[in-house]
Parts: sequence; C-alpha cells; structure tokens
Amino acid sequence: MSEEGAKPTGPDFAQGIPAADLADGAMIQGQVSGEAVLLARSGGALFAIGAECSHYHGPLAEGVLVADTVRCPWHHACFSLRTGEALRAPALNPVSCWRVEQGDGKIYVREKLEPEQRSGRTPARAAPESVVIVGGGAAGNAAAEMLRREGYSGPLTMLSADDAVPYDRPNLSKDYLAGNAPEEWIPLRSAEFYAERGIELKLGARAAAIDAKDREVRLADGSRQRFGALLLATGAEPVRLRIPGSDLPNIRYLRTLADSRALVAKATASRRVVVIGASFIGLEVAASLRARGLEVHVVAPEARPMETVFGAEVGDLVRRVHEEHGVVFHLGTTASSFDRDRVTLQSGERLDADFVVVGIGVRPEIVLAEQAGIAIDRGVTVDPYLETSTPGIWAAGDIARWPDRLTGERIRIEHWVVAERQGQTAARNMLGARERFDAVPFFWTQQHDLLLSYVGHAAKWDRFEIDGSVAAKDCTVTYRQGGRKLAVLTISRDRDSLDAEIELEGMIAAGT
Ligand SMILES: Cc1cc2nc3c(=O)[nH]c(=O)nc-3n(C[C@H](O)[C@H](O)[C@H](O)COP(=O)(O)OP(=O)(O)OC[C@H]3O[C@@H](n4cnc5c(N)ncnc54)[C@H](O)[C@@H]3O)c2cc1C
Ligand code: FES
Repeated sequence: MSEEGAKPTGPDFAQGIPAADLADGAMIQGQVSGEAVLLARSGGALFAIGAECSHYHGPLAEGVLVADTVRCPWHHACFSLRTGEALRAPALNPVSCWRVEQGDGKIYVREKLEPEQRSGRTPARAAPESVVIVGGGAAGNAAAEMLRREGYSGPLTMLSADDAVPYDRPNLSKDYLAGNAPEEWIPLRSAEFYAERGIELKLGARAAAIDAKDREVRLADGSRQRFGALLLATGAEPVRLRIPGSDLPNIRYLRTLADSRALVAKATASRRVVVIGASFIGLEVAASLRARGLEVHVVAPEARPMETVFGAEVGDLVRRVHEEHGVVFHLGTTASSFDRDRVTLQSGERLDADFVVVGIGVRPEIVLAEQAGIAIDRGVTVDPYLETSTPGIWAAGDIARWPDRLTGERIRIEHWVVAERQGQTAARNMLGARERFDAVPFFWTQQHDLLLSYVGHAAKWDRFEIDGSVAAKDCTVTYRQGGRKLAVLTISRDRDSLDAEIELEGMIAAGT
C-alpha cells in the first residue's frame, strides 16, 4: 500500500480513443492532463472517474464493474461511476469525475466535473434532534461522516476515550509498526475536518454510563451529554494474559496508536521480542518487528498458525513465509510466566526477550450497553437495521451482533471494513432509511510479502476446495458448511475475491 499515487499511464483520453476499443462492461485506464482516469462503459453509458482508489490508491481498472459502480480490487471499496462518490468503505473520499463525449467513432474525456452536491436522501422529519456517537474508531468515524454526507444538520457529537483523532487502526500492526508508513498517514481525518462539518469531536472523553430513559450519556469526568439518537461504537479491548509476571512493564498489547508508538519505541531499543499468540495481530506484529531487524519468536498453543480459520495448507504457508523471513515458532505450547527479560513456556523452554507482545484476541467493550439494560449476547444484540433493543440506540462495529442472512446466524465480526460499513448503515438508519445491514464481510491481512483477502464468514466449515496453488501463493480457497459456500480466501487473486463477494451478495439477496 502507498500514500503516493503512481504516475499515470495509458492512452490520453483527451485525444480520444476508438469507440470500438471499449466494449460494454469494460474499463480502460488512461490519463487526462496528467491525472489517471478510468474510462468505463456500462449499460451502454460512458463514464470517466479517477483511476486510483481514494483509500490506498488501489488500481480501479483491475477491479470489477457492477452496474454503474466500480469496486476496488484491494479492500473492496465501491465508487459511483456517475458521481465518483465513495459508496462503501473503506474509501471515505470521492474520486474525481469527468464529462465524456462520443463522436466520429471516438470517445473523448472532456472537462472535470464539479463534485455533485448531495442532497440528504432522508426526510428531515425523520432526523433525530441530536446524535451522540460513543467511540471514535472505524464505526464511529464512518457514522459521523455519513450523517453529514446525508445532510443531517443537527448537533453531532463524537466521544472518544482515545486522545488521538480517529485513525487507521489496521496500519498500526503493519506498515506503521514496520517503519514503512510515516505517522502522517495514520489519522483518518484532521481535527479541522470535523470542525468544518460541525462534528464536535471530544477526545479523551470516556462515557461512563448511559441513561436510556433520560436520553443522556454520563462521562467519566462527571459531565453529561443529551442525545436524540445514540450510536454505540466502543470497539474491543485486547484480552489480557493473567500469568505470573504479566504486570511487568515489558509485557505489551496492541490496540491503539499509543500502543503502537510504544512498540516502535521499544523496538528501536531492543534486539529480541517474543510474540504470544499466532492471531492476525500477533503475526502481523511478528512480521513488522522482523522488518525492523529484531529477533522474533512466536509462541502459540496451536499446531499450525491460522489452521482453524483457513485450514492446514494455508496454515503451513503462513508458517513457511514467516520462517523464510526468520521468525521462529514455538507451537503447541504457551507462556507460563514472564520475567523482566525472559519468557518461560509451559514446555519448560525459556526464551530471552527484551519485551513481549501479547495478541491472544479481543473482547467487545459492551459494559455501557449492559449497564443500560440493552440486550446483550456476547456482543450488543442489534436488529437487521443495527438498532439495539432500546429504540433510538444503535450499535456498530466490533461490539455489534447482527442477524446475518448468509449463515442464518447472529454474528459479530472484528473487521475494519465491516465496522465502517456498519457505521455508515447505522447513520442512514438513524435518519430513517430502514436499510438492512447485508454487506458481505471482508477482511485482509498482510504478513511479510503474503497478502490474504477473505470474503464472507465461515466460523465453522466442514470442507474447503483449493483452486490454484497455496504453496505458490496463487490460489482461491472456498470454505463450505453443509455444502453451502460461506467464505472465500484468495492469495494474489483480487479479481476472484471481488467475484466471490458479488456471488455471496447475490445469495443473500436471493435468500438462498
Ligand atoms: C493492530 C490492529 C490491526 C488490525 N488490522 C486489521 C486488518 O488488517 N483488517 C481488518 O479487517 N481489521 C483489522 N483490525 C480490526 C479492526 O481495526 C477493528 O475491527 C475495527 O477497528 C473495529 O472498529 P470499531 O469502530 O468497532 O472499534 P474501534 O476502531 O476499536 O474504535 C472504538 C472506539 O471507541 C472508543 N471507546 C471505547 N470505550 C469508550 C467509552 N466508554 N467512551 C468513549 N469512547 C470509548 C475507543 O477509544 C475507540 O476510539 C485490526 C485491529 C488492530 C487493533
Ligand atoms: S485501496 Fe481501494 S479499498 Fe483500499
């Protein structure tokens, strides 16, 4: 991923291209006045929008056209071809849009169009008198932005226990920790962005209780915040390890920007680290700290990393890739105690460690909802519209357990894109849209040069099929339960990942 766009390549659309070169349903990347432009024909109509995704510059020409939208191949953002609007997270900003003309058997891209002023789609009478969002992470931020994009003009407050403006949490264990992403890339928005949109962002503001009857949030500092509608987006907290020595200062966790900064500081002054847990976060941390030249040991109870999620073949690949990069695994065991500079394993082995990073999973932050008498079920229970059991109080992100039509079960998922999309859906529903949350979950992880993309959700599967070669890092793995396709993992096959997303969406829509 990069913050910088590549130099534009391809034909100069201002000079025109033969109309016959662009079939219906096709896209071509080219340029206009030094800007990368995507030219597309869909349903007979012609469109020209910015060719680079506004999330991390993914090449939209390698994505998929669906009616008058295009999906990014990297993390599945979706843009309108008509307006350039970012219709689905993780992209939050629109891309540019140009006027297209056809004549003399050629297609020309003309002048850039002004961004279309969106008028709120929701009738004003449905809007709450004020909105409070508890949580300044993926879901909270996406909801706040969407409320304003939809034209909501009432008071809007976002309370965040974090001291930093909302930021790109997935990067904290990847490029930022590896030293490949400067800190400027990490905030999602500047403080001015919120101020300009009348979003009152209160940082270091921890909600202590919710009074659902009086429609009030009580903050830890004793102040109160009234709300017309409330979104709970409090995310999750790392599960803490409770063994002798676990309170030592060199035992670290990773959830926040402050945590990641502290790991960077530790890494620069250390030689050896032990990672406890072969979770996504544990393995990403292992890869990033290896990239910084540290000696990295990973300790985990399973026989193969990721086997329960992805199966033995992919687990072996994950292990091999880490080992090729010098990571040492200690599997089938776990830590039994910590000292200042050593980890003792249950197997009796002792590992020297300047510091330890524990990544053994997270627990949803549901205490506020629980105390307010909102229905809880290993998360905050929400209906298909993301409203909790208390009308006017919504929940999104890592805490929300929603009825998923693909699996037929209530599921709770800890993915960045899911959290953002839930925030967006909850925002529209607060304004009366009545939109079901039916998005197919999408997740990615990057470890060394291995990039895994995963669509759908298969908490359990009884069969999987591999197309291609896992060992060669070029494959599509389909997970099924009772014959039903539930999820698809891809390596180096972004197109297959998007096709799988579209297929799973079709299954949801058809109710199959
Ligand atoms: C290091 C790391 C890497 C990750 N990488 C990926 C990845 O590659 N791909 C992927 O799909 N997912 C990834 N995830 C998971 C993803 O970041 C989460 O699923 C997502 O952030 C959840 O969004 P959320 O809004 O529910 O919670 P969060 O983003 O955690 O935000 C919760 C917010 O609520 C605030 N808060 C909590 N309690 C209170 C309170 N009482 N009062 C006020 N504020 C409160 C917190 O301070 C925080 O601002 C990663 C997570 C981590 C930690
Ligand atoms: S780069 Fe397009 S969604 Fe991330």
